[in-house]
Amino acid sequence: MVNQNPAIETTEVKINHRVTINVVHTDELAKALIMTKTTMESPFNRLGIITGAPGTGKTIASYYLATKLNGIRICCSETITKKGLLSRLAKSMDHRAKRATIDELTEWLELNIDGQLFLIDEANHLNWKTLEILRYLADECGATIVLFGTQILTEIFQNRNTKVLLAQLSSRIGAKTIVFTPIAIKKGKNNSLKKVGVYFIYPTFGDAAKNPDLIKTFHRYCEGNWRLAQELIVACQEVMRLQNQTELTQEIIHQAGSYIQEN
Ligand SMILES: Nc1ncnc2c1ncn2[C@@H]1O[C@H](COP(=O)(O)OP(=O)(O)OP(=O)(O)O)[C@@H](O)[C@H]1O
Ligand SMILES: [Mg+2]
Repeated sequence: MVNQNPAIETTEVKINHRVTINVVHTDELAKALIMTKTTMESPFNRLGIITGAPGTGKTIASYYLATKLNGIRICCSETITKKGLLSRLAKSMDHRAKRATIDELTEWLELNIDGQLFLIDEANHLNWKTLEILRYLADECGATIVLFGTQILTEIFQNRNTKVLLAQLSSRIGAKTIVFTPIAIKKGKNNSLKKVGVYFIYPTFGDAAKNPDLIKTFHRYCEGNWRLAQELIVACQEVMRLQNQTELTQEIIHQAGSYIQEN
């Protein structure tokens, strides 16, 4: 979606060769940028973590940080192994050797990753042994590593079976933790109402939709979640197209919202 609202600051971020998106500078993104920069500049403990519920913008943040800070973004699959991760890290830096062993990959990374920022998305798929090797790469080889994941990642650190095994990694991450949350509308606070309008509604439906009741109804269905908001926008557009309407109304949001809830 192209953002044409001059009130929002955005950065154009290339997701792949087909998709480029205008990433909105949210408060959480600003915090993530500061945390990552500080972590990179630190002489030790160059490890950070970003967690949050699905659809709160973690993946977008990983692309944004990679663009801004010249980092390398890697996404972990459900079946990823320790060797698979090492191989992905090495390949992302143009390591070409085929059939390298874990030791060879580790040795190559030891020599080549000093000063490199890695943004590891879906890190909740990594087991404790694989997470531990990331600590080693940050501690001994000069890389900065920021992990992204859902609550499951937080749980791996708190789980009584893995807590002790990950104590070294946990202590290095320390306070360098950011939690992405949906935008909550609090009574008497207009700021979050404004955010829902500025981030989600006005860029698509224009300033005519600047109506607190409309924004509240929109929020009721998307709950301030980026992914749900994107779905709701598409559903509202579809209802408007079918009903030949040009203006967003309460009724359209209700119809679009109910459709999403039913599906
Ligand atoms: N700052 C932002 N600017 C513009 N669009 C955003 C922003 N954050 C999120 N989005 C939109 O919301 C969608 C969901 O965000 P994203 O995929 O980053 O969520 P996530 O937290 O990684 O979810 P999951 O845990 O399911 O992987 C994105 O595809 C994007 O369209
Ligand atoms: Mg994601």
